[in-house]
Amino acid sequence: MNGEWGLPSDTQDTFVSFDRVQKSYDGETLVVKDLNLDIGKGEFLTMLGPSGSGKTTCLMMLAGFETATHGEILLDSRPINNIPPHKRGIGMVFQNYALFPHMTVAENLSFPLEVRKIGKSEREAKVMRALDMVQMGDFGGRRPAQLSGGQQQRIALARALVFEPELVLMDEPLGALDKQLRETLQFEITKLAHRLGITVVYVTHDQTEALTMSDRVAVFDDGRIQQLDAPDVLYEQPQNSFVAQFIGENNTLTGRVAEMHADMCVVRLDDGELIDAVPVNVSAVGDRTQVSIRPERVEMNKDRLAPDAHTLKAEVLEFIYMGDIYRTRLRVAGHENFVVKTRNAPDQPRLKPGERIEIGWHPQDCRALDA
Ligand SMILES: Nc1ncnc2c1ncn2[C@@H]1O[C@H](COP(=O)(O)OP(=O)(O)O)[C@@H](O)[C@H]1O
Ligand SMILES: [Mg+2]
Repeated sequence: MNGEWGLPSDTQDTFVSFDRVQKSYDGETLVVKDLNLDIGKGEFLTMLGPSGSGKTTCLMMLAGFETATHGEILLDSRPINNIPPHKRGIGMVFQNYALFPHMTVAENLSFPLEVRKIGKSEREAKVMRALDMVQMGDFGGRRPAQLSGGQQQRIALARALVFEPELVLMDEPLGALDKQLRETLQFEITKLAHRLGITVVYVTHDQTEALTMSDRVAVFDDGRIQQLDAPDVLYEQPQNSFVAQFIGENNTLTGRVAEMHADMCVVRLDDGELIDAVPVNVSAVGDRTQVSIRPERVEMNKDRLAPDAHTLKAEVLEFIYMGDIYRTRLRVAGHENFVVKTRNAPDQPRLKPGERIEIGWHPQDCRALDA
């Protein structure tokens, strides 16, 4: 898709604009291909995508460490090239903290303020406030080596915020931390960003992180935005097979469009069975398609489906008890990795391998995408 990714019409003013931006490092291959992206003031926007998809390159161009090969980046309606770096008001946080090891925590925080020629007493007040903001008020005298990874990352965050930037760029800032700490900081960062009203451009390859933290997520692949939407729209209405597979768990069945109606189509799966789907990325009878259905939207109780709904026969291959949910792996239409997730509740059966069942879904939960 070669999209123009503007802001939803009902939201805030545009603060950052990528306008037809392309980037090549070697003069041959484009690692960013025609990026058109508007980011709103105060928005938390995440660039999500596999390694090598061009996320860091976009961030580096925005920070001014790399220049676009083509196109323009605007900050608050001004071309970024015309704004000297110290006036860009951009804070940055990277995965590897990048604190100065020979300075104390307080000196690390004071540094960006000295660069901006802020007086001593004001510096001290701002440093204290920034440390308190990340709950590290008592650590000003320590050196980075005397802190845990999570504490260092809190300090890096405080240092990015201490000069009250309007825009903060974060590149996989939590990548080096363990799961529990990551989740705590995910929550703290979003809370802080919204409280301070700063615009955040956040880069991650972790889809859960992207979904839980962001106002909108731009899914990158191969130097292009594949889809840009709020987390729930991205998850529930993927626009193509890449996004459906990359975000969350997804079941895929392959076939051809057999009937095409205005907002519904019938797909003949490769084994001959028929199912109903929403035509998203198919246009005519005969088109190859991968249909996408989320594991928690599969219905194993026929009574909950429309009387005329198409259903499929399935064989239970594996049943996993996971506490809060049951995870059942099925053989469906020749596919052996079809997964169904059900709540652990008294009305949900605990199935056994070898059992034969019938499954179906509400047609609006099943999307016919590109093959
Ligand atoms: N400084 C560089 N010089 C040459 N190629 C680079 C440089 N930085 C990144 N690349 C290449 O550009 C592509 C995109 O990289 P990057 O923006 O780092 O992706 P991501 O952050 O999504 O992993 C990759 O193919 C990478 O190898
Ligand atoms: Mg990167």
